[in-house]
Amino acid sequence: MIEFTLNGKSVSVAADPDTPLLWAIRDDLGLTGTKFGCGIGMCGACTVHIDGQAIRSCITMLADAAGASVTTIEGLDPAHAHPVQKAWLALQVPQCGYCQSGQIMQAVALIDQYSSPTDAVIDAIMAGNLCRCMTYARIREAIKQAALEMEP
Ligand code: FES
Ligand code: FES
Repeated sequence: MIEFTLNGKSVSVAADPDTPLLWAIRDDLGLTGTKFGCGIGMCGACTVHIDGQAIRSCITMLADAAGASVTTIEGLDPAHAHPVQKAWLALQVPQCGYCQSGQIMQAVALIDQYSSPTDAVIDAIMAGNLCRCMTYARIREAIKQAALEMEP
C-alpha cells in the first residue's frame, strides 16, 4: 500500500510500487485529467506536480510518490480559476485539448520558478511539452499573461 497526498487529500493505492504514477492517478484514483501520450517521458501530456515540481507521471513510479504531495490539473485550484487557467481561457489556448493539462501544469511550475519569464525561458522550459495542434504561440502568450497577474 502506497500512501501520499493527492490534491490535498490523503490517499492510498494498493498497487505494485513499480506501477507508473500516471496509472495510479487515472485508474486507481479516477482522476483522468492527466493524459497518456508517449509513455516514455518525451511529450509532457502526463505532467503533474510532486511537492511543487513538474514531473512526468508516466515514468515516475508510484513508490516515488510515497509520502509526497501530488497535484494534478483537478487540484490546481478549487474553482478551476488559477491565473494560468484563466489566461488559457482568455486566450483560448487549447485546440483539441489533449496536451493541455500537461501544458498548464508545466506552465504553473515555470511561473513559480520565473516570475517574469522571457520568450527564451518559456521556449526552453516548455520545449518538452509537445502539442500536435501547434498551440505554442498562444501558450507562450498565456504564460506571460498569467505571470503578470501572479507578479508579487
Ligand atoms: S505520456 Fe508521459 S511524457 Fe508522454
Ligand atoms: S491542443 Fe491538441 S495536442 Fe495540444
